[in-house]
Amino acid sequence: APNKKLLVLPGDGIGPEVMREAGRIVGWLSRRRGISFDISEDLVGGASIDVHGVPIRDEVIAQAREADAVLFGAVGGPKWAGVGFDVRPEVAILRLRQELGLFANLRPAIVLDPLIDSSTLKADIVRGLDIMIVRETVGGIYFGEPRGIEDMPDGGRRGVNTEIYTTFEIERVARVAFDLARKREGRVCSVEKSNVMESGLLWRQVVTELQAREYRDVQLSHMLADNCAMQLVRNPRQFDVIVTGNLFGDMLSDLSAMLTGSLGMLPSATLGTRDAQGRRPALYEPIHGSAPDIAGTGQANPLAQILSLAMLLRYSFSMDAEADLIERACTNVLASGLRTADIMSAGKAKVGTGVMGEAVLRELDKLGG
Ligand code: NAD
Ligand code: IPM
Ligand code: MN
Repeated sequence: APNKKLLVLPGDGIGPEVMREAGRIVGWLSRRRGISFDISEDLVGGASIDVHGVPIRDEVIAQAREADAVLFGAVGGPKWAGVGFDVRPEVAILRLRQELGLFANLRPAIVLDPLIDSSTLKADIVRGLDIMIVRETVGGIYFGEPRGIEDMPDGGRRGVNTEIYTTFEIERVARVAFDLARKREGRVCSVEKSNVMESGLLWRQVVTELQAREYRDVQLSHMLADNCAMQLVRNPRQFDVIVTGNLFGDMLSDLSAMLTGSLGMLPSATLGTRDAQGRRPALYEPIHGSAPDIAGTGQANPLAQILSLAMLLRYSFSMDAEADLIERACTNVLASGLRTADIMSAGKAKVGTGVMGEAVLRELDKLGG
């Protein structure tokens, strides 16, 4: 079989710094496990704006379509913040999601044993936590029309965004959540604001009907988004799979990241619809951004990017053994006491991005060389 095609898009800020460490793992897979990819790399975000004048070129979108999987870093930064909405770095990831139809963003929040004391919550609250947030990523208020900033007759202006969800969009993302729940604890919590938003009310109805029709074996509950934020901090282990819209999913996943010890730990997978040949478009990225406040200092935690690579191997290529190896290597490195600066751990020395990446490689040598 021909090599799998991998498109690597490091982006801005710490994106290229953490991607470098993921790249070393890709090199290890080839050297030690005989797994080779056809890899191409390109500019996205501010890095692409600087060279090409746009956050992502059509050729790069086309390459992403052709690829078997996309590994994405992060985009954005103060340098490009002033520009118009259509030419911001963030457009790169938004266009990729939308044009590849990447509608289901899987954001697992897992508390690894070595990091129990690194959470801002008490150890007893987070021990063993394993939740999966399924965030809708091509609809909702991120993309609804009308949108814009408009002049008003009174001389003022107004900013407009519109939340829209169709039955089709709700059903297909809910299906992903129900299917995942079947392989987990069998529980889905659907999150919206059906008390104030019609899009939320429709969301609740459609998810309820789908469960009754096709997923009676999965336990479904509903929660208003504000309460969900509170419940995630009060007692996060009550959740198994959470399914929610674009904006709530964005917020709740950053919140959940902190339960695990650091935003720098959480990977994600964004999946589209399988085509007739069985190919499923997929993009893998950390949930964190380009972290301009620490970019260039060598302090970034590369584990979210490395774990995103593990998700890529698992979900796109069914290489579960290699994904397991990488995840185990990350856990072992943390168990050995190594920490980047973002992880709060009293009395532990802090290492930089390269040392952390190197430690994962050495651990991989031990586990699966
Ligand atoms: P951020 O996630 O970049 O950073 C939030 C905080 O977490 C910062 O203090 C940062 O230093 C820290 N942090 C994040 N990742 C870390 C890591 N791997 N190691 C150590 N510390 C880490 O969010 P922000 O500051 O609100 O946004 C910065 C830029 O990133 C913005 O332009 C935003 O639009 C963009 N962004 C991009 C993506 C993406 O490309 N998918 C995601 C989120 C934010
Ligand atoms: C994320 C980011 C993006 C989002 C931005 C950069 C467009 O915050 O992937 O979580 O809001 O979806
Ligand atoms: Mn986000």
